[in-house]
Amino acid sequence: MSIIRPVIRGTGHYLPQRVVPNAEFASTLDTSDDWIVSRSGIERRHFAAEGEYTSDLATHAARAALDNAGMDASEIDAVIVATSTPDYTFPAVATQVQAGLGITKGFAFDIQAVCAGFVFALANASGLIAAGQAQRVLVIGAETFSRILDWTDRSTCVLFGDGAGAVVLEAQPGTGGTDDRGVLSCDLNSDGRYRDLLFVDGGVSRSGTAGVLRMQGREVFRHAVEKLAETARTALDKAGLAPEQVDWVVPHQANLRIIRGTAQKLGLPMEKVVVTVQDHGNTSAASIPLALSVANAEGRFKRGDLILTEAIGGGLSWGAVALRW
Ligand code: UT7
Repeated sequence: MSIIRPVIRGTGHYLPQRVVPNAEFASTLDTSDDWIVSRSGIERRHFAAEGEYTSDLATHAARAALDNAGMDASEIDAVIVATSTPDYTFPAVATQVQAGLGITKGFAFDIQAVCAGFVFALANASGLIAAGQAQRVLVIGAETFSRILDWTDRSTCVLFGDGAGAVVLEAQPGTGGTDDRGVLSCDLNSDGRYRDLLFVDGGVSRSGTAGVLRMQGREVFRHAVEKLAETARTALDKAGLAPEQVDWVVPHQANLRIIRGTAQKLGLPMEKVVVTVQDHGNTSAASIPLALSVANAEGRFKRGDLILTEAIGGGLSWGAVALRW
């Protein structure tokens, strides 16, 4: 059987220039480099400059992905940005990226599934490609979480960072088998009963303000390891694959202990896991495409590798995508 597979043709990322090491927080908060590293694995993060917005980060990452794919922006017919920190309430960041790249055809929209945003965007882009709605899609995760942090709350503000990552997905013919390149399966989940575990306490309709992030970290942690392992297994099951066939896990980068715990539950060694949380912190929807792009730039993936991505975040929303490089 011949089917259409969405194949990753290129990856790119962008990190704002300003790097903030853990030690910087210790001068204003009752915290330490030791605590942050031992509880989260985070050593530093990047923060956007004044006047530098999510769409700027996203556009830089998109250009890098197009370069990596050897493609021109005019070949793109859809732009999807996963973000919870848009420049404006509307229009979508994706339309700003589209304009920034000089694209005047096709369509562009944002997806808001917080830290699971890139997985949701990848699944949606794959669906659009499979349905024949688009041939080449820029899928971007971009965030400026530094704009929604409470700088007096040591339990959250030390954990997040800004950045963007992008992939170019292209429709290519496949056989329908597990050896095909491209996205093989997706598993998406949400459960709105868990809103209070991780949310932003403002918004257009409720307060007319952007609000700041609130998190019950320990509870989110508990859900994370369990739900990430489950969604990863489900995505692999849907593709007819088993965890031992996975070459690389590219997980959401929130906490090294969650990344390790999930890998352990899946029976996968850490040598197969891409970890960037030490350098980026938690960049929400940007974390997976950032990690994918960093690992690709380091030449870690080879054609035919089975890659598993998984993420969880506010909502709660969580999911996984299995794809062949
Ligand atoms: O990306 C979306 C998904 N989000 C996540 O996946 C985050 C999930 N949660 C986590 O990563 C972890 O729960 C945290 C890193 C947020 C916290 O680690 P933890 O081991 O769960 O610590 P805890 O929240 O149980 O806090 C332990 C102690 C507390 O003090 P007491 O109550 O034991 O006296 C906190 O007040 O650590 C204290 N604490 C801090 N101490 C120094 C909290 N934040 C800090 C801090 N520095 N920055």
